[in-house]
Amino acid sequence: MKIGFIGLGNMATAIIGGLLREGTVLADGTAVTAADLIGSAKTEATRQAKATQFGIAVTADNREVAAVADVLVLAVKPQFFPEVTTEIRGAVNENTLVISIAAGLTLERIAALFGRDENTMRLIRCMPNTPALVNAGCTAVCPGTGATEDDEALCLALMESFGHAIVIPERLMDAASAVAGSSPAFVFMFIEALADGAVEAGMPRAQAYEFAAAAVAGSAQLVLETGRHPGDLKDMVCSPGGTTIEGVKALEQRGFRAAAMEAVGACVAKAKAL
Ligand SMILES: NC(=O)c1ccc[n+]([C@@H]2O[C@H](COP(=O)([O-])OP(=O)(O)OC[C@H]3O[C@@H](n4cnc5c(N)ncnc54)[C@H](OP(=O)(O)O)[C@@H]3O)[C@@H](O)[C@H]2O)c1
Repeated sequence: MKIGFIGLGNMATAIIGGLLREGTVLADGTAVTAADLIGSAKTEATRQAKATQFGIAVTADNREVAAVADVLVLAVKPQFFPEVTTEIRGAVNENTLVISIAAGLTLERIAALFGRDENTMRLIRCMPNTPALVNAGCTAVCPGTGATEDDEALCLALMESFGHAIVIPERLMDAASAVAGSSPAFVFMFIEALADGAVEAGMPRAQAYEFAAAAVAGSAQLVLETGRHPGDLKDMVCSPGGTTIEGVKALEQRGFRAAAMEAVGACVAKAKAL
């Protein structure tokens, strides 16, 4: 099976890295190898870098990738979709499974860019996030009505090669983009701010980042592994009359939770306007 990538940036790198690292096994029992992959990118520098990094075939010709791919991953920025789909639409085989990872572009819109019907085109929308680069991604997967059960299973296997993958209906894609795709940016800001606080209290900066990042990663792991309510886990840290509850009060006074909710809402609103 040939898996083609148009665009070889951050996200394609995360996906390809996951596929090759995990030796992802396909429905026919074979594991994905570099020989199964082909990709295109705008610049020679990117193409050369990815050929060297992964040992995959690369080309400057998007149509070549589109023509040979059984599964075609569209990994360019949303604003380049009209240009790229116009270029490749005549080259894509009718039976090719097309996977889009673009933020904000609906199944209906993508199918229309291919001049196809959303109800018959084998099309799946995915929303990965950058922790995929370290095998800790969380990807929302939304199969179109023209995608088969096998297509969905294949797509899940590809996306699970670098973390969690969760199937959701399209009406939740903007929420998923915000809470999983964009939220790493918010979490990095939080880690940076926690570390600044520790630096203010005298801790060396490098150590402060390590403590803050490890604490955030560990807390997230505790939520996922115990399944306990985050508020419950928060209460567990807050001893009566202790230090933590003072910090919780400071965050509440600054509208911490409202700010986080508004950040998610702002991303959803922007995605709907794209
Ligand atoms: N970054 C995220 O956190 C995130 C999360 C979820 C979804 N996404 C989605 O993932 C997609 C890719 O994002 P990214 O962060 O990987 O972007 P990126 O790092 O900027 O990579 C984009 C790639 O597209 C290539 N490209 C641009 N124009 C092209 C063309 N005409 N033909 C072929 N290749 C072309 C670029 O080539 P050069 O390298 O040669 O310039 C680059 O390799 C976007 O649609 C984005 O919405 C991103």
